[in-house]
Amino acid sequence: MTKWEDLKRLQAAAGARHILDLFAADPARAKGFAVDALGMRFDYSKTNMDSAQRAALIALCDGAGLADRREAMFTGAPINETEGRAVLHTALRNLDGGPVPVDGQDVMPGVLDGLARMRAFAGAVRSGKARGAGGALTDVVNIGIGGSDLGPAMAVMALAPYHDGPRCHFVSNVDGADIADTLRGLDPTRTLVIVASKTFTTIETMTNARTAKAWMEEGGGDPARQFAALSTAQDKTAAFGIDADKVFGFADWVGGRYSVWGPIGLSLMIAIGAKAFDAFLRGAQAMDNHFRTADWGENMPVLLALTGLWHHQVCGYATRAVLPYDQRLKRLPAYLQQLEMESNGKSVAMDGTPLDGPSGPVVWGEPGTNGQHAFYQLIHQGTAVVPCEFMVAAVGHEPELAHHHRLLVANCLAQSEALMRGRAPEDARAKVAGAFEGAELERQAAHRVFPGNRPSVTLIYPQLTPEILGQIIALYEHRVFVEGVILGINSFDQWGVELGKELATSLGPIVEGAESAAGKDGSTAALVEFVHRHGGG
Ligand code: F6P
Repeated sequence: MTKWEDLKRLQAAAGARHILDLFAADPARAKGFAVDALGMRFDYSKTNMDSAQRAALIALCDGAGLADRREAMFTGAPINETEGRAVLHTALRNLDGGPVPVDGQDVMPGVLDGLARMRAFAGAVRSGKARGAGGALTDVVNIGIGGSDLGPAMAVMALAPYHDGPRCHFVSNVDGADIADTLRGLDPTRTLVIVASKTFTTIETMTNARTAKAWMEEGGGDPARQFAALSTAQDKTAAFGIDADKVFGFADWVGGRYSVWGPIGLSLMIAIGAKAFDAFLRGAQAMDNHFRTADWGENMPVLLALTGLWHHQVCGYATRAVLPYDQRLKRLPAYLQQLEMESNGKSVAMDGTPLDGPSGPVVWGEPGTNGQHAFYQLIHQGTAVVPCEFMVAAVGHEPELAHHHRLLVANCLAQSEALMRGRAPEDARAKVAGAFEGAELERQAAHRVFPGNRPSVTLIYPQLTPEILGQIIALYEHRVFVEGVILGINSFDQWGVELGKELATSLGPIVEGAESAAGKDGSTAALVEFVHRHGGG
């Protein structure tokens, strides 16, 4: 019998219980099903989980050897077993922690040295000391994709109120539209291009980097002064022509989707300055310490993970929505999509055997309140249950617009309440009683019924500061780790992205017309033919 069957039995035993029944039975539920840590509150009381079910979920942690796996991660053991690597993004924010050995060697001197080099470079760019061919650098273009784009792009947007450095832009897509639209209007003599790629082989990034270099040369800029690289592959950065003093290296134990804390965060540091970047790291470090020391029942990442497993593995809800009521977290759902789906979207366990249940869920979302006027209809009345993860700050950054923020908070809280309460048929009838009667009243009322009993969790924090953003990102990183350990997955490889890359490489010459599509399936060959017929390729 699998661990999930026990939990499913417990869930089935609760029958058609309503979340409101849980509040009625336990007046202290709001407190008992919430974690307060590091100034934030994670409230999971609006889920259909009782104490016995929570205890059974918590037991999964010990059953999976979570404490040992956690220590193995923090202390540099090669837990990424399919790639034979340690997983040490936590070392990048271990600002005043102790040594972290990998293969008997403390990595911290290298981490701190790398950080010092980033600070010096970012400081020079911000002060105008580092200059382009045409003077002080006004704009920074980060070229990267996946983890080499989403982290800094998300964080730069999130921390806009702290932005006092040059303007930052992000180019990721190999679609020429991305780089063309970004470079248009920029001065090639006063733009810094940062090529961010762990491997320095990613086709999208290298194609964009070459295009940017040509643009700079044609426009009178000086790539020798105006290009920097963030990579583990220093031989390749040198071959591209980037001077070693503008190359910021990192080790292979930093996974792409966990890399914003080190050199990949350079654009963020240039945007907000080294002091605010330090606060970002310190927030993450505080969450690391919390994750490492708090009991399972008081541990925010653990409870966020267990709530996720409850909904996905036990209740069978296929997706979860991340709904930040924070416009500046607009890119967070995309960031979390990579973090969660690239980490836990696997079919086999660490030992290569099939999983005993589904892998991680589909993650999606948009900022509130925008989503309310788009897809919330389905969340409230559709047949699929979508567990929602709401986020909101108590205070915004626009004191003169406090009335906006009040409305934002009210909407966020209203949605989780509405999802839980729903609207009963008798209330729906009362709503339309004046306008209709008889069968028409019944028909109209049916459309206005909300089933309710729909689960959500809420993360509330004082204000979206660098420190809080660091805490939030680290919270989600550890959530993914805990879910992965309990699922038995290696959350740190991503073999599933390889096949598409290989096929794209083989299709390149076919799309170009240099090779024939014979040998491809009929659909692919016909699509290539369409491109050629319309002048493409
Ligand atoms: O193809 C997936 C992936 O390897 C991600 O894991 C990574 O974040 C992204 O591509 C970019 O890789 P790189 O930083 O090596 O260019």
